[in-house]
Amino acid sequence: MALREILVVPDARLKQVSQPVATVDDDLRALMDDMLETMYAAPGIGLAAIQIGVPKRVIVMDLAREGEDRQPRYFVNPEILWASDDTAPYEEGCLSVPEIYDEVERPARVKLRYLNYKGEQIEEDAEGLFAVCIQHEMDHLDGVLFIDHLSRLKREQAIKKVKKQAKAA
Ligand code: NI
Repeated sequence: MALREILVVPDARLKQVSQPVATVDDDLRALMDDMLETMYAAPGIGLAAIQIGVPKRVIVMDLAREGEDRQPRYFVNPEILWASDDTAPYEEGCLSVPEIYDEVERPARVKLRYLNYKGEQIEEDAEGLFAVCIQHEMDHLDGVLFIDHLSRLKREQAIKKVKKQAKAA
């Protein structure tokens, strides 16, 4: 396993649309292992492959609370089969937009289909933080960041702030 560099805004690669994965093989599992390690080190609760510069439709996630055992989850080629009409707000953040948090409104519940670490097809319902996180990460696969859901002014301020931090670092 290896730590990978996480891309931050305004890196143009984050706007790329990621491509579906043909097969879940050992190479892909090695990528997912690297992604998980990188996410834990950050630390974060979700990471899409494009955030380390790999344009594949792959997401890792761990929503375990502090003190709980790790619960790594892997989503390959995830699709949303259904989304609720009712929405819920959540204050989101993103490893590619460090230290910026703002409220985004998304469907409160979704039904998902994806391939897991073993390449098995899974259908699952998501609500609460899981629903927020999977929708946020799936946006990354289409080149969309959570700040793209905000007003243009807020988005521009966020990018400016991140650039400033990068310069100071
Ligand atoms: Ni993100």
